[in-house]
Amino acid sequence: MEINIADQSEELLRIKQRFGIVGNSPVLLHALERAIKVAPIDLSVLIVGESGTGKEFFPQVIHSLSPRKHKKYIAVNCGAIPEGTIDSELFGHEKGAFTGAVASRKGYFEEADGGTIFLDEVAELPLTTQARLLRVLESGEFIKVGSSEVQRTDIRVVAATNVNMLKAVEQGRFREDLFYRLSTVTISVPPLRDRGNDIRLLTRKFSSDFAERYRMPQVRFDDEAVSLISHYRWPGNVRQLKNVIEQIALFDAGNLVTADTVSAHLPDISGDYSPAVSGVTSAHSYANEREILFNMIFRLQRELDNMRGELDSLRRASGEIVSRQPADMAPRLLAAPKPLSEPQSTVIDTIAVPVDTHAPMAEDVPNVAPTLEETERETIRRALVRNDGRRKSTARELNISERTLYRKIREYGLE
Ligand SMILES: Nc1ncnc2c1ncn2[C@@H]1O[C@H](COP(=O)(O)OP(=O)(O)OP(=O)(O)O)[C@@H](O)[C@H]1O
Ligand SMILES: [Mg+2]
Repeated sequence: MEINIADQSEELLRIKQRFGIVGNSPVLLHALERAIKVAPIDLSVLIVGESGTGKEFFPQVIHSLSPRKHKKYIAVNCGAIPEGTIDSELFGHEKGAFTGAVASRKGYFEEADGGTIFLDEVAELPLTTQARLLRVLESGEFIKVGSSEVQRTDIRVVAATNVNMLKAVEQGRFREDLFYRLSTVTISVPPLRDRGNDIRLLTRKFSSDFAERYRMPQVRFDDEAVSLISHYRWPGNVRQLKNVIEQIALFDAGNLVTADTVSAHLPDISGDYSPAVSGVTSAHSYANEREILFNMIFRLQRELDNMRGELDSLRRASGEIVSRQPADMAPRLLAAPKPLSEPQSTVIDTIAVPVDTHAPMAEDVPNVAPTLEETERETIRRALVRNDGRRKSTARELNISERTLYRKIREYGLE
């Protein structure tokens, strides 16, 4: 089901256009309409929804349509600030309030006076900070860390979370009074699997965005691929879809993408390739997304290892002395998982370049490096040997479509 453009209000269309929000599903439009309606009324709003559903658009929409729009908008990720400094970040501190407080500092609540503060991952706030937040919400009053002077501020708070707040309250991790104060109005952002045709619209948008970004020809999807994308459960929601399309846009530029190629980018197809059932919420969310990221990291790591192996053997073939990679690469890569923000940056941050103390110095590197084509030919040849000539599994291992593999086999005379 989707709502025709002609039936959508001008304001709704303008907001979607301005923020780059894609979708015509009734559930998404309902959430956006709620944001538009509540924006001019000075109430606290709580945005809830699974990880990756697009919650971060909502506080911006609300601020931009409120009388506060010419004042500051500050977004704070409560989960990313260490417990020891969050009070001072939010409410400021006096000089000498703690070791290292060499000067007094304004907090976000003072800086954004008259404007809006977005408290992302609000469930992560420590209980002491929750008490301060409740006070500022109820009376507009706050006290800087290390001060005894009560100050006033005029702030609208929009908060977001992907955790079950009632459960957090039940477990004593979140103050009940604060929960009710924050959630005067709640906006629920629907999971991607409940948005019907929006999945296709988003796929098209991301394919064209990434083709443009990487200056590569746009990918197209065959019918089975489209069906798989439409029916997959997308536990990591829009963020996961965006990531998958980005990988495909990179590795399959210009190709007609098959369902096989798509499934190679999905973590556990057996568990998650089930028709979307409206109203059923996923138990995956955060933990599952972490799994997806680890999966991606593992895949990238495997590709890196493969490439290194191929390079080694090519060098060896040309008489070079080659040193091995340390075997403990995997544990080192995964030793310190990062909190999730944007997966792209998480992946880039997490993939450390291993320091190989035995690596050849720059001057040891052969002058005549194999060309890209030679490396590619050799990589494909070896993968074919490893897979006993089976093209399907070879394509999967190489993370390319079967069609691309066929083309390459012919191109390099590997039949
Ligand atoms: N309807 C949409 N149209 C276009 N892009 C979208 C849409 N929804 C989400 N996105 C994109 O998906 C990504 C994830 O969205 P966002 O960061 O807002 O998720 P979130 O709900 O805050 O997740 P988390 O709870 O994990 O923080 C962003 O890159 C965002 O731009
Ligand atoms: Mg978020």
